[in-house]
Amino acid sequence: MRLTLLLCAVCCVLVVTAHRYDPDWKSLDARPLPKWFDDAKFGVFVHWGVFSVPAFGSEWFWWYWQGEFDPAYIAFMLKNYPPGFTYAEFAPQFNAQFFQPDEWAELFEASGAKYVVFTTKHHEGFTNWGSPTSWNWNSVDNGPHRDLVGELGSAIRKRSLHYGLYHSLYEWFNPLYLKDKESGFKTQEFVNSKTLPELVDLVKRYKPELIWSDGDWEATDTYWNSTEFLAWLYNDSPVKDVIVVNDRWGSGTACKHGGYYNCADKFTPSTMPNHKWEKCVSVDKLSWGYRRNMKLSDVMDLPSIIKDLVFTVALGGNYLLNVGPTSDGMIPTVFEERLRGIGAWLKVNGEAIYATAPWRVQSENATVPVWYTSKGSTVYAIFHTRPMQYSFQLSTPVTLDSTVVTLLGNSESLKWAPLHSSGLMMVLPVLPCTAAEAWVIKLDGVM
Ligand SMILES: *[C@@H]1O[C@H](CO)[C@@H](O)[C@H](O)[C@H]1NC(C)=O
Ligand SMILES: *[C@@H]1O[C@H](CO)[C@@H](O)[C@H](O)[C@H]1NC(C)=O
Repeated sequence: MRLTLLLCAVCCVLVVTAHRYDPDWKSLDARPLPKWFDDAKFGVFVHWGVFSVPAFGSEWFWWYWQGEFDPAYIAFMLKNYPPGFTYAEFAPQFNAQFFQPDEWAELFEASGAKYVVFTTKHHEGFTNWGSPTSWNWNSVDNGPHRDLVGELGSAIRKRSLHYGLYHSLYEWFNPLYLKDKESGFKTQEFVNSKTLPELVDLVKRYKPELIWSDGDWEATDTYWNSTEFLAWLYNDSPVKDVIVVNDRWGSGTACKHGGYYNCADKFTPSTMPNHKWEKCVSVDKLSWGYRRNMKLSDVMDLPSIIKDLVFTVALGGNYLLNVGPTSDGMIPTVFEERLRGIGAWLKVNGEAIYATAPWRVQSENATVPVWYTSKGSTVYAIFHTRPMQYSFQLSTPVTLDSTVVTLLGNSESLKWAPLHSSGLMMVLPVLPCTAAEAWVIKLDGVM
């Protein structure tokens, strides 16, 4: 008995020791990804900031206007604002008058999303919480005079969604950053007095389950102290066991180091990556932030979104879909409609998405093209084209006598017969009309 206890104590000490991470990629990259992330599959991304006030072009407004001197942005300012108007003057108009975090959280939950990633600070540097190192360039001292990160977080958690924080490492026009940049990133004044204190503040205050890092690409991970930060995050932070991070931690780290991989925005691999990944896209195809000059033809339709979600999950990815709220805190109704449409489809077909794993084959061109996902010996065949006939053929699954075939949303099991070596033929019922234009055949007990 005593010996057992002693052995246990020794083991525990060993286990605890073994789980400390060193501040280098070899050690950090070996950390297993907390399981909640792979199970979640679908998240909502929200880009909100001072850029939502001019709401023209994209969330890169300030950069196009005064970094690149894009003529379209210069003309927009000349035409609509007094001479000498500065970007900082947009901030007081970021009023968030109609921002009801509970309404947003209700919508995100209704979309079927299991996590939400919110911009705490985009490249403009404006923080959506009262960062003590932000001077007055933050949402508590300026603009809405509210803790947007905190308010949304509480509402999200009441509905048991996971809360993720987007954070831009660089700030286009921050004088401290520009000074470090001028030194060839040999000095780290900006990192030590702004970036790291803010990241640590965010983690301690809001206990996020995901950090979506961005804006890393002009400097190396050494400049950003990324490995030191991640080692703290994984070893000693209040979220060390649940936190998930992406891969944007310094030039050259994307698709290579960190937690899961985003690679590039809207990353669309042609074969299954061998590392957990996430595809981020925006319902407005031309912008992540809200823009008033958005047209219906710029907006993803529901069938395309579902198709993209299914493709991503079949290849082992998560799907992070972005919406940009207006500066007064409304989620444009066209985005709301898309989100509720996804939720309606997932309500019937979600078992083919959540907590699934890629199957041994990702897709085939059967009677119509199908994408596969799986859960143990259950395989889901998802298709987006209404077949011309009721007989439907799949050539990859290997059936047993006990195999049961159903169409999700339809309680009757389907009549089927095996084909010669592998595959089966079944008779489909009348497919329901759905705005999502996607249906799922569930195959129980196949190989
Ligand atoms: C950043 O890294 C440098 C070099 O490793 C170290 O001297 C410095 O203390 C680190 N800063 C922080 C805030 O961790
Ligand atoms: C199915 O057909 C499409 C278009 O014809 C093609 O791009 C795709 O590679 C095919 N998929 C498989 C698994 O053969």
